[in-house]
Amino acid sequence: MRRLAVLTSGGDAPGMNAAVRAVVRAGVEMGFEMSGVRNGFAGLIRGEFLSLGCRNVGGIIDRGGTFLGSSRCEEMYQESGQEAALRSLRDYALDGLIVIGGNGSQSGALALSRRGFPVVGIASTIDNDLAGTDISLGATTALEIAVQAIDRLRVTASSHRRAFLVEVMGRHCGYLALVAGIASGAEAIVIPEVPTGAEDVARELLAAESRGKKHAIVVVSEGAPQNADQIGRWFADHHERLGFELRVTRLGHIQRGGSPCVFDRMIATELGAAAVQYLASGEHGVVIGLKDHRPHASSLSMVLEQKQLDAGLLAIARTMSR
Ligand code: F6P
Repeated sequence: MRRLAVLTSGGDAPGMNAAVRAVVRAGVEMGFEMSGVRNGFAGLIRGEFLSLGCRNVGGIIDRGGTFLGSSRCEEMYQESGQEAALRSLRDYALDGLIVIGGNGSQSGALALSRRGFPVVGIASTIDNDLAGTDISLGATTALEIAVQAIDRLRVTASSHRRAFLVEVMGRHCGYLALVAGIASGAEAIVIPEVPTGAEDVARELLAAESRGKKHAIVVVSEGAPQNADQIGRWFADHHERLGFELRVTRLGHIQRGGSPCVFDRMIATELGAAAVQYLASGEHGVVIGLKDHRPHASSLSMVLEQKQLDAGLLAIARTMSR
């Protein structure tokens, strides 16, 4: 095995650049010829390769986003797209591929692996919804950004006796909302995993007011059955007495931008180096994540499993919102 390529795919996550840097430098150290693929699987299908050496990945450890570019590639879910990707890899005479991304991206990696191509994934998504890893690359930075924003909202909420519905990302998974809620001292948390409606939120807000609170923060996951806008509209339509004036803030893609925190830079570096080592030792068809603070490989087929939310965290969130 001599020639390896790396790509970033799906929603970008802080730390992807640091992971590409680690993959390239570990690869060069081990004697591989390294290249990158522009624009994720879409670029792979079109054969958009560039040669990468150590100097090409300098000065990027602190940069958010991905200098390689990324895409959500519908074609990669089709047999024809997977075959085209495989052809590109063979035409460019590659011996292995590293895919940095979340669930959808690792499904593409799995498809290539099942067609016999050596692929190793690196678990990277702010949603932290990938089974087989305690935490995925980018989630910690996204949490820092969300918590800093909520801290600021609490200040103004308190001045005006207001409640804020703050929507954070997380398409199918409440991890970001749950942890951001606990770390910012939220009064209520609304996540897809626990059925919670606007009526339940109203009850929580009234209870918070009766306990003497001057403000209330409700962190709502975008993937919850009712998102922050919908809950806000329900309150407006029902003229519900909440004890607070209500405002809605949607953090959206702000959580994906920004410089990666130290933790994400560190795991990007460790996971990137580990991914090259796995390919070099002939172990592939795996996704590298973090278990008990160490890089850990799980079969790529784990991407088909649903990650379970930590029940202990849910219980703590309830106790701490008192
Ligand atoms: O990458 C994960 C994620 O940020 C989700 O939290 C969110 O639902 C989605 O991506 C948004 O995707 P896009 O950037 O394609 O709008």
